[in-house]
Amino acid sequence: MDSIPANRKFWNRISRAYQHEHDPQIGATPRLWGMYAVPDARLRALGDVTGKRVLELGCGAGQWSRSLAAEGATVVGLDLSEAQLAAAARAMRAARYPLVQGAAELLPFADDSFDLVFCDHGGLSWAPPHLAVPQAARVLRRGGRLVFNTTSPWFEACYDEDARRATTTLHQDYFGLNTIAEDHGAVSYQLTYGGWIKTLRGAGLIIDDLIEPRPEPGTPNGYNETDPPDWAHHWPAEMLWITHKP
Ligand SMILES: C[S@@+](CC[C@H](N)C(=O)[O-])C[C@H]1O[C@@H](n2cnc3c(N)ncnc32)[C@H](O)[C@@H]1O
Repeated sequence: MDSIPANRKFWNRISRAYQHEHDPQIGATPRLWGMYAVPDARLRALGDVTGKRVLELGCGAGQWSRSLAAEGATVVGLDLSEAQLAAAARAMRAARYPLVQGAAELLPFADDSFDLVFCDHGGLSWAPPHLAVPQAARVLRRGGRLVFNTTSPWFEACYDEDARRATTTLHQDYFGLNTIAEDHGAVSYQLTYGGWIKTLRGAGLIIDDLIEPRPEPGTPNGYNETDPPDWAHHWPAEMLWITHKP
């Protein structure tokens, strides 16, 4: 819970510049995953959402939420930052959906409210997983799915803070990732693979798949420099967890 004020301030501070830089990539077409905008049509992570109750945890400007609302899902977009929520409100299209200010650590929804909880570098990257994962599990109905994409421990361990790029050298201690200091006092979170499995299973979730998106060589990373440029073609930069509540 300690990172809520700093992360809210951080996202309010960077929201305008972030959307200016990234919305052209992540909002270009519906259902694009992560740093390399890999189409969900290729990864098949989310499935059909028609008629489903869907919660996006950390929706940002709603690039995902507005697409799923247009497909016929009953979507709620939750985000910590009022600036990000204002961007989502401005980008809302004909299929309108509610926006809620809140934290993934403490969701303001009743148990068993959603068929699908998901995010793409959202609340499960910016809230402590040991708090956010049980909250996501709590608001899912039985049979509902938690699907989320986040940076891989590989990418974090190979990230050179001084050069501000991922390289082929180990720069961080894998077992010490846990909290990652972002700019302006903000914090993001990472677990080891074993830590993620323990946290997901500890919240009562069944792990159905771990997709490691592999962009084609030449696919640009919209967020980070990498050395070599096609780093993510050789090593997994992201991990997309597919789970359900039994
Ligand atoms: C990288 S954006 C993800 C949104 C969108 N998928 C994108 O890629 O732009 C991260 C979002 O998480 C939100 N966020 C940060 N901490 C959060 C928390 N504790 N609970 C919910 N959302 C949070 C931020 O405000 C931000 O909008």
